[in-house]
Amino acid sequence: MKIFLDSSDIQEIKPLNKSNLIDGVTTNPSLLAKQSGNFKTILKAIASEVKGPISAEVTATKFDKMIIEANILRKIAKNIIIKIPLTDDGLLACNYLAKKKIKTNVTLCFSPSQAILAAKAGATYVSPFMGRLDDIGESGIELIRNIKTIYQNYNFKTQILAASIRSAEHVTEVAKIGADVVTLPPKIFKQLIKHELTDQGLEMFLSDWKKSGKQIS
Ligand code: G3P
Repeated sequence: MKIFLDSSDIQEIKPLNKSNLIDGVTTNPSLLAKQSGNFKTILKAIASEVKGPISAEVTATKFDKMIIEANILRKIAKNIIIKIPLTDDGLLACNYLAKKKIKTNVTLCFSPSQAILAAKAGATYVSPFMGRLDDIGESGIELIRNIKTIYQNYNFKTQILAASIRSAEHVTEVAKIGADVVTLPPKIFKQLIKHELTDQGLEMFLSDWKKSGKQIS
């Protein structure tokens, strides 16, 4: 399973990328809007820090303008991939870019039927939003499970990028189902590492070792 960071903040991406566990980054207009400075400079810095795919989203809603924006975003760095909303025009744009072998991430997916259309449009990734579905009383985990079953049934090549992740449990559940990628807010990435018993156990090992007076040398 690949791990992407869901962030547009280079200051929080850089230290986490030192772990060598980060395979890519997803940005979105809301995350980018929070950062001060030119969005191209921000995306360029992220794309040079993390070597994997960096999703940058079009903000146009009509096909022609989406393609113009996609071409602007692509020029920022070689590893930028184009994030497109799951709308009529978005699917058309996805199909157009797929035919030109340009990688896409079709975002704002909330149903299995939408995911089928993204795959048929040739999306490289589809981003089902788990947390936002949980927020309205539906199950993000069930959405991932259903998409996985459907994609396996038809051998669709589109990768499932589980997004809007709110907990370490979300990560475990989608890993069990076999999602290709999870995109994590930095806070959740840090949570994956932590376990109270790891900290307690380490403290005890080190204290016992110190008391013994032995040394590794
Ligand atoms: O980047 C898309 C997605 O992961 C957004 O998550 O937390 O805003 O629902 P959230």
